[in-house]
Amino acid sequence: MWTTERRYRPLNQESMAEYEALCRQAAQSPWRQHYHIQPPAGLLNDPNGFCYHQGKYHLFYQWFPLGPVHGLKYWHHLVSDNLLDFTSQGIGIAPDTLEDSHGAYSGSAISFGDKMLIAYTGNHRDADWQRIPYQRSAFLSADNQLEKHPPFLCGAPAGYTEHCRDPKLWQNADGSYAMLLGAQRENLSGTVLYLRSADGLQWQLEGEVDCVLPQFGYMWECPDYFPLDGRDVLIFCPQGLQDYPNIYQCGYLLGSFDQVRRIFRHQGFQELDLGFEYYAAQSTLGKAEERIVIAWFGLPDMSCPTAVDGWAHCLSLPRVLSIEGEKLYQRPLPALAELRKGSAHDGVHYELLLSNPDNAPFSLRLRMGEYEDKNEETLLHYDGQYLVFDRSRSGLLPEPEIALPAGKGGHVRRLAIKKITDVQIFSDSSSLEIFINRGEFVMSGRIYPQSTADGLQYQLGDNAGIEFYAL
Ligand code: FRU
Repeated sequence: MWTTERRYRPLNQESMAEYEALCRQAAQSPWRQHYHIQPPAGLLNDPNGFCYHQGKYHLFYQWFPLGPVHGLKYWHHLVSDNLLDFTSQGIGIAPDTLEDSHGAYSGSAISFGDKMLIAYTGNHRDADWQRIPYQRSAFLSADNQLEKHPPFLCGAPAGYTEHCRDPKLWQNADGSYAMLLGAQRENLSGTVLYLRSADGLQWQLEGEVDCVLPQFGYMWECPDYFPLDGRDVLIFCPQGLQDYPNIYQCGYLLGSFDQVRRIFRHQGFQELDLGFEYYAAQSTLGKAEERIVIAWFGLPDMSCPTAVDGWAHCLSLPRVLSIEGEKLYQRPLPALAELRKGSAHDGVHYELLLSNPDNAPFSLRLRMGEYEDKNEETLLHYDGQYLVFDRSRSGLLPEPEIALPAGKGGHVRRLAIKKITDVQIFSDSSSLEIFINRGEFVMSGRIYPQSTADGLQYQLGDNAGIEFYAL
């Protein structure tokens, strides 16, 4: 039973032997991914502190180490040269002060001289279980010494509820620093707050950003902002939108951000991923000054079938963003090609490249297998009008843990699309990431078939071709 007490037990109060047993259990899980970031045990959620600092990528994730549930959150720290191979540095931020006593919640980081400057939300609950969010910064030095600073924003600002979190920090071209915070107004609508700083350490809350949207959900989590190819992009995760099939969204506004007037003009909200789960996307500039985004390959309030094995969730593959003809494109990080190990694959771990120059209908049956009296398969079907991603027979499936409004949920996603010339699929033990038309659209989904479900069949148009790489 996941009592509150168990969920908020710090890692250092658990016996090492028990934690190690949980890691061994997770390692045996048939759904362990081969090339995605996943927790050694326990639950992973948002990517945090993603930045390129002194020649290395740093990436953290929200982590509850002691079981596959949301509980006392830590930041788990990873370092990488290439975003393919990661070395764990263990705990990056532990919830070990009063201000973050109930979780070191999400935040971001930038390179700041020879240190990393981190901004995150300390989640504190008082004796009456009232949440008090603290926004604070910290320095992380090259030898992984963390120096937490006193909070620069204590509690919710006037006019906002306790749901005020997830600072995204950046430096502007003029050298000044700025930050967005996800927030909920007292009238229970979502928004983002804007803060400014001359030195990155003293912060001034300026007020809301006017995102020129009617009421748009009850809370906005995990904002991100960056200029890209002459435009501005604001990513956020609005909760409480009706007209989308997934429980919560992660999407963006593409337009222009006037930071002085705090107005973001744009062409409307778009989801980043049209599959089943993608959340809390966070970006950084990479080694080649490219804009790279990584997300939680999961959603709040959804179950994860791997929970039986003591772990839950993984991160999505890194994507590189660009703007082409007024549209945001998302392509798999080019370095992922280094994972390719030849064309003979095992039916589970592979990259698939479909070229469809005539825009012909096609159908792919992936991860096919027989299990007891059931046939498992995951379908990707295109009829010239719609691309259908159907995981309803893909094995075990994530299910909502709370009642969903009518019209939400289900295990089929349909994308209205009149032309498909290219499809690139990354298949791992328990996921598919499907890039359409070289990044025009992406549809991702976790799937939990038997590990023996390795069958693959396809029907293509005459001039279409398919290639595989083992991963
Ligand atoms: C999003 C989120 C954030 C919060 C974190 C806590 O998934 O709810 O808003 O900071 O997770 O783990």
